[in-house]
Amino acid sequence: MSNIAALQATIAKLATKGKGILAADESTGTITKRFQALNIESTEDSRRAYRELLVTTPGINEFVAGVILYEETLNQKTSQGIPFANALEKAGILPGIKVDKGLINLANTNEEQVTQGLDGLPERLAEYKAKGARFAKWRAVYNISANTPSQLLIDTNAEVLARYAAICQAAGIVPIVEPEVLIDGDHTIERCEEVTEPVFQAVFEALYRHKVKLEYIVLKPSMVINGKACSKKADPAAVAKATIRVLRRTVPGAVPTVNFLSGGQSSEQATANLDEMNKLAPLPWNLSFSYARALQDYCVKTWKGDANNVKAAQQAFYKRAKLNSLAAVGKYNKSMEEEVISLAS
Ligand code: 13P
Repeated sequence: MSNIAALQATIAKLATKGKGILAADESTGTITKRFQALNIESTEDSRRAYRELLVTTPGINEFVAGVILYEETLNQKTSQGIPFANALEKAGILPGIKVDKGLINLANTNEEQVTQGLDGLPERLAEYKAKGARFAKWRAVYNISANTPSQLLIDTNAEVLARYAAICQAAGIVPIVEPEVLIDGDHTIERCEEVTEPVFQAVFEALYRHKVKLEYIVLKPSMVINGKACSKKADPAAVAKATIRVLRRTVPGAVPTVNFLSGGQSSEQATANLDEMNKLAPLPWNLSFSYARALQDYCVKTWKGDANNVKAAQQAFYKRAKLNSLAAVGKYNKSMEEEVISLAS
């Protein structure tokens, strides 16, 4: 298959209306922290067992088009002895891979951080592709304070995201481009909007400069929302209005799908906000989810590291995936949170 044909086939699946992406690509450090908070031991095998629980949830392919894996998981097998990438393909779900190598300080800024991992990326992508990965993810972060993000950080992150995206497309891998304006802090939703618009603008200018084909990317943005510590909480209507305004101003209609990160919102909040945005249809792009925490929180808390809880944990994951799938077409309703939503048998 030519690279363009591969990109086309992958994006067609990822942009399926009513489906989203599960981010299960937490680095070992991050998942260890999440496990430890619940007294779950973090070992290679406990992480494997947990990820197996997620990807083998019966019927999950109705709501999830792709799963982002961490490199460790791409190299692991399910308890049936099947490599994770093959197990996903068999379930009709595309396997993807986080390819950035985390954050380092950007010199001459006030401790702002840039994402590393471009060195050797073409070689790594070839290896991941051979193991079955069809798309990739790279996350850039922006911290809001009185004087950040700086222009230097905005420009540097944009340049690096665009170089990563161009390298992925040259390898026939669809890039998820993830600019995350962090929710930490006490900023208002207005301040978040003021920051987010130039951030997205810079990202798309860089993608254009680097000749990235917008038809074959997934944009994974943060929503425009008040900071966690802000006393004035924006309701879903306000989040939807501000987020869609910024996306309309900055994201060309050639981009097929926008899949949000949850960024520390509660599970219910992330679903309600996505739903409210889709109720503003028609929109130029598919608008869906690529959540980690907002899909997994109840699931991992139910599992607790105990094999006896696998079924109940899958049930919790299935419910969140289904509600977010409904939100991705604007058909979610808050009262559904009270409903018993059973696993497909
Ligand atoms: P959250 O949904 O937990 O923000 O994670 C999404 C993600 O992939 C962050 O890179």
